[in-house]
Amino acid sequence: MTTQFSVEDIELELTRYPKNQESNLQAWDAADEHLIKHLKETEQAPIATAIINDNFGALTACLRSMDAQWPLAVETDAKTSQLGTLQNLENNKLSSDDIQWLNSRENIPAAIELVLMKLPKNLSYFAHQLNRLSQVLPEGTQVLIGAKAKSINKSLLEVFAKNLGPASASLTWKKTRVITCITDGVARKLPTASQWPIPELNLEITNLSNVFASGKLDIGARIMLDNMPKGDFKSIIDLGCGNGVLGLNAKQCFPQAYIHFVDDSEMAVESARQNWALNKLDTQGLVGEQATFGWDDCLTHLNEGVRPDLILCNPPFHQGEAITDHIAWQMFLQSWRALKNGGILHVVGNRHLAYHVKLQRIFKNCTTVASNGKFVILQAQKIGKKAEPHESQESSTEAPHPQSSLYGATKP
Ligand SMILES: C[S@@+](CC[C@H](N)C(=O)[O-])C[C@H]1O[C@@H](n2cnc3c(N)ncnc32)[C@H](O)[C@@H]1O
Repeated sequence: MTTQFSVEDIELELTRYPKNQESNLQAWDAADEHLIKHLKETEQAPIATAIINDNFGALTACLRSMDAQWPLAVETDAKTSQLGTLQNLENNKLSSDDIQWLNSRENIPAAIELVLMKLPKNLSYFAHQLNRLSQVLPEGTQVLIGAKAKSINKSLLEVFAKNLGPASASLTWKKTRVITCITDGVARKLPTASQWPIPELNLEITNLSNVFASGKLDIGARIMLDNMPKGDFKSIIDLGCGNGVLGLNAKQCFPQAYIHFVDDSEMAVESARQNWALNKLDTQGLVGEQATFGWDDCLTHLNEGVRPDLILCNPPFHQGEAITDHIAWQMFLQSWRALKNGGILHVVGNRHLAYHVKLQRIFKNCTTVASNGKFVILQAQKIGKKAEPHESQESSTEAPHPQSSLYGATKP
């Protein structure tokens, strides 16, 4: 994997996040390079700049290396992007001081004079982002978007005109273009979150624009809901919660349980929070907060006091546009660490992903609970551990370390 970023006179060492995933993918793409080349060619001065959708911090690190004081606000929906950006700034000895970090629902500061963006995969989310910018940016502000040339067409340019202002695209370089949009100063109304029912579960679900399976139940989630585990669970994690449908149903099945919703996407975490409130799931007489909501990379920052007896997980098999199994590995391994002794990890996955190999490797057991032609529900139980494993005990706990060669063991 190439980690040497080199554009004009900028040389950086950039890695994806987490750093040690086994993949041949770079931490940046040609659209990042094109945006930086454009700034260099136009001799852009270091004015107050917002950077949006910077996957692993390539744009942020470039601007800070062009001028250590470049005033920056960095907005992302993905916790892993924020952590990756911090990692790359630190590795290149660039300062993260004074950077204003924003999630995907916080408005950028009104003083912003320039916006750099990468085009996200999800176009409704993109339209929503432009919409939000229209509420803050004064007329005449330059918004530069780096994108693959093949993603740019008349209808995309119309998305700009409708949501922010007129746009035009540069010539193609390395199969990418830079779109320049000049804001028209008209504030657009934000879209309302979609709301839809799951009548058989008596649940109402809302989804913010960047949430997985917006507007419908995922087929993996459906088979999971049809096969909820049996037991007297008291502390349950919905890992990679999306809109929270698995955790919400878990609370219906196990009213005495406390539910912890976790996702890399801030909009997902917020949707789960809204869905919890919408469905009024608190059980009378139970003490304390019955649901917590964490914006996190898997269980990396899980409160140490949380020792679940059940983890529900419908893992992602891609990071951005890249197909990868490192997140599933990390979710399974961190689940093993977090679970109480005797606790259960209940997983749904596409059959061809062969999650049973990973679970068997980490938990030393794995049972198939249900399957259909395409999906399989697997269960692994944490057994035989009296004490919580610590990093220093790793070699004696038999659990693979995220950096060990066990990552990617099922790859061809
Ligand atoms: C297949 S979806 C499942 C969503 C929901 N649980 C369901 O069943 O409909 C996977 C979820 O994992 C989240 N995710 C991806 N990478 C993650 C990470 N590193 N840490 C936590 N969640 C992550 C995605 O944002 C997405 O919501």
